[in-house]
Amino acid sequence: MIVVGLNAYHGDVSAALVRDGQLIAAVEEERFRRIKHCAGFPHRALASCLEMAGVSAADVDCFAISRDPRAHLWRKALFLATKRPKRTVGDRARNLLKLRSIPDTIAASLALDPRKVRSRMMAIEHHPAHLASAAYVSPFDDAAVCAIDGFGDFVSTSWGVVEGNRVEGRGAVYFPHSLGLMYLAITQHLGFMKYGDEFKVMGLAPYGEPRFKKEIAQLVRLHEHGTFELDLSYFSHWSGGVDMTWDDGEPTIGRVFTPKLEALLGAARQPSDPVDGRHEAIASSLQSVFEDAVMTLLSHVREATRKTKLCLAGGCAMNSVANGQVRARTGFREVFIQPAAGDSGTALGAAFEAWHRRSNAPRDFVMRHAYWGPQYSDAHIAAALEGAAGDIARSGCARHLFVGDDVVGWTAKQIAAGQVVGWYQGRMEWGARALGNRSILADPRRADMRDIINTRIKFRERFRPFAPSVLEEAVDEYFVGAAIDPFMQQVYPIRPDKRSVVPAVTHVDGSGRLQTVSRDGNPRYWQLIRAFGDLTGVPMVLNTSFNENEPIVLTPTEALDCFLRTSMDVLVVGNHALERPCRQ
Ligand SMILES: [Fe+2]
Repeated sequence: MIVVGLNAYHGDVSAALVRDGQLIAAVEEERFRRIKHCAGFPHRALASCLEMAGVSAADVDCFAISRDPRAHLWRKALFLATKRPKRTVGDRARNLLKLRSIPDTIAASLALDPRKVRSRMMAIEHHPAHLASAAYVSPFDDAAVCAIDGFGDFVSTSWGVVEGNRVEGRGAVYFPHSLGLMYLAITQHLGFMKYGDEFKVMGLAPYGEPRFKKEIAQLVRLHEHGTFELDLSYFSHWSGGVDMTWDDGEPTIGRVFTPKLEALLGAARQPSDPVDGRHEAIASSLQSVFEDAVMTLLSHVREATRKTKLCLAGGCAMNSVANGQVRARTGFREVFIQPAAGDSGTALGAAFEAWHRRSNAPRDFVMRHAYWGPQYSDAHIAAALEGAAGDIARSGCARHLFVGDDVVGWTAKQIAAGQVVGWYQGRMEWGARALGNRSILADPRRADMRDIINTRIKFRERFRPFAPSVLEEAVDEYFVGAAIDPFMQQVYPIRPDKRSVVPAVTHVDGSGRLQTVSRDGNPRYWQLIRAFGDLTGVPMVLNTSFNENEPIVLTPTEALDCFLRTSMDVLVVGNHALERPCRQ
């Protein structure tokens, strides 16, 4: 049975394909469209999944969409009757129409008969799709499962258990109360207005002291039984005055906080204003309030379910700083978070939920790596290089072609010599993080490396940290209490005696958002880090996504373009390499 999962008309639209209970392909639309967090319908991600699986559209048995507008109708009606929002109704009606027409959109996209698509559709509510996205691909047979996000289908938080091939919901928090929305409101107050900017605030937080914690704690009231409530007087998302667009292109969300928040925390920062100590303190305070709320919620989930393992999903599960505290603060002993914990992951969840509902088959899949995206052949890479031959010649780059794994040792030497290397291999990563197949790599031992990458290549805020990829075998040598995590979803303290050894990946508070790399998970990346370790005594590299203020590069041509327009020193694509002439 072939099931295609789709996230559409939301942020981070995406597609995933599951065949007989095995994940075959998963990819975000933003990589094709070159628009971050791309909304609308994932036409190209859908076509790519079919191509990766080698199947035709007519072979698909089920199209599972990760939205169900019919969910919670009485709650929605009650909300409309009691709160009387202004514009929300119209916005939602428009989005609803798009969701209703999805079978036609799929049919048009794949040149299928709409009636046939209609008979193969399954709607999976947004939060059950989040829960499924973690639970059904985790290594756990028996675990608690929790999703925390902004909103989807009127729910912001949900939890339950996974036992065998069934996820059972046990509790939820509904619109308009949402921890994701609280984080968004303060992110906007701090002047970060783009969709998905919350991670910048998380990076800024360790620079400040939480001296606004008492004030920000007023925004949310934590209840027993794991639920919580926002003080809605600080928020405008519920009253209908906020523009949101999920149409084709970049999603946008208007200002979701009221003037009362500025009365509480001071004037909102304008995007062009410098970031100062007050902003750092607000970020720190928000992160702390958020962590307390998440830990209170998860402690309740732990007690209520009596499980020792946890699967976590939802946009808030991209908060890797909070994730790294879960085992220490909630009683859960193991945590699994797949790399697309945000909304793109609902395509994966919808596909697996539909598969299990239709087949009732036992689970037979564990996501052990993130490489579910497109791959380009060596011939394609060679053609891309030929296509750019003129630009390459003008750049003065030397061209190398390696045999077998010889490229690994050569690249390790380049990194150890202080070169910044674009590293492009195999299938693209699923999820927001580059995990060693579309990465920019550098020497973590060099204190100046953060500034070098920020000023020469990434052109991004100075406060954002760079992450380490470390050999799985060496994780305890460098980190305190860290879990094995191939998906870079948890932040842990770097051992105090190692912080000066790897300053480029040590954040201001001594932490690091590590990716553990195993020989099985990514053999070539593991070999590269091991070779770097043999040369330097440090089995770790700095890993940042291969891009420059854009989605992570997808094709060899995009990798080449990014290399040529920035000041990267070396580009490795498969077994091909380009080496820029030495800097004077
Ligand atoms: Fe979500």
